[in-house]
Amino acid sequence: MNKKNLALQGRNNIELAEKNMGALMKLRENFARLKPFKGLKIAMALHITKETAALVRTFIAGGANVAITSCNPLSTQDDVAEALKADGIAAYGYKGETGREYYSFLNKVLDIKPNITIDDGCDLVTQIHLKRPTLLREIIGGCEETTTGIIRLRAMERDRALKYPIIAVNDNKTKHLMDNYYGTGQSTINGIIRATNVLFAGKTVVIAGYGDCGKGCAMRAKGMGANVIVTEVDAFPALQAQMDGFRVMPMKDAAPKGDIFITVTGNKHVIRVEHVHTMKNGAILANSGHFDIEIDVAGIKKAATQKKQIRPFMTRYTFGKRGSAHGKEVYVLADGRLVNLSAAEGHPSEVMSMSFCGQALACEYLVQHNGVKGKNPLKPGVHYLPEEIDQKIASLQLGVMGVKIDKLTPEQVRYLKEWKEGTN
Ligand SMILES: NC(=O)c1ccc[n+]([C@@H]2O[C@H](COP(=O)([O-])OP(=O)(O)OC[C@H]3O[C@@H](n4cnc5c(N)ncnc54)[C@H](O)[C@@H]3O)[C@@H](O)[C@H]2O)c1
Repeated sequence: MNKKNLALQGRNNIELAEKNMGALMKLRENFARLKPFKGLKIAMALHITKETAALVRTFIAGGANVAITSCNPLSTQDDVAEALKADGIAAYGYKGETGREYYSFLNKVLDIKPNITIDDGCDLVTQIHLKRPTLLREIIGGCEETTTGIIRLRAMERDRALKYPIIAVNDNKTKHLMDNYYGTGQSTINGIIRATNVLFAGKTVVIAGYGDCGKGCAMRAKGMGANVIVTEVDAFPALQAQMDGFRVMPMKDAAPKGDIFITVTGNKHVIRVEHVHTMKNGAILANSGHFDIEIDVAGIKKAATQKKQIRPFMTRYTFGKRGSAHGKEVYVLADGRLVNLSAAEGHPSEVMSMSFCGQALACEYLVQHNGVKGKNPLKPGVHYLPEEIDQKIASLQLGVMGVKIDKLTPEQVRYLKEWKEGTN
């Protein structure tokens, strides 16, 4: 497809996304009136999807100057990037960019000398702190979209390295309890199916990590008729998985049992070569955690006797002699990068609407609380968005879905504040 047609396709996709992002569109109307970001420059490293484009357009409606690149070399939707460029927006990156290009695009975005950074995985923040500290002077704050990014930010905070306030948007209830759970649950299975067309019914699906994402993946895999095994390192989520009816065991025991493996831990080398050696012939390995290190793809590549690209996001690794009694093949999807954004389109728009309401309102909050002219300036460090803003997002989304809920009666309000009333 030529650039013009790509841009047209991208525009159609963005319009489709915006139709399903009613809550974000309501915020856009307000921003267009009040222009809270007038004169501000926002640098974004978020997966360039049609939903992210809707967020970019929301910031622009609010008066911001935005530059965007992706936060993963395989997650850019090229049609969407072209549509943004056709509208004169500084958008960098393409699906399949190299690691070197990835960092050069991050730096192009930083060249605007941002006042606000929006990250998904913390690469912009670390780039600024490690390589371009002079940019710190202009920055009032930032936002972080995902669990892995928050883990890195907390580590920076512990080392007293973090020099500006960042809102942990991931930790909004309307983000991690919705996006990570319902979004990752559906889109991860979607990514695996698009990459392989495998049948889930009757298969054994091993899910590494039973956090918000793992719970969502387990629920959806079960719903499609799979037998689910969970691996964990933390006793509490392991117990939850067991009580939710799944088998729980270490990866070493799960490896020979699984047909499809999904890692969503935010950790490194959760599936290693030693596990692959005991897997069934034809096992499928997919990752939906932020970085491409959850499956030791480099180790698998080194140990394999043959590598073959079977389909765009499906690579077959052979161990031993193909077809011989000891020969074995496993399939790694999307090079171990997040399968839902590489092989599919990421989360559905409805879910991203809530996540991105969080981003939009977090940026507004940063502006209202910046050290220069805001009240109660935020100190450098990781901050939560106040509960009432999270509530506002949930209410907006319920409104969009046409769902009404009860209100506390005055008697109930009083009762909930009362400690004297007990057993009758
Ligand atoms: N694909 C997506 O679109 C998407 C969306 C949201 C989050 N994420 C990413 O997914 C990952 C998980 O996010 P989350 O919100 O579920 O995190 P979480 O912290 O809620 O859950 C992670 C779980 O993995 C477990 N774990 C850690 N190391 C493990 C190991 N070696 N073996 C087994 N379990 C292990 C932890 O105990 C925890 O229960 C992060 O990298 C996050 O950034 C991806």
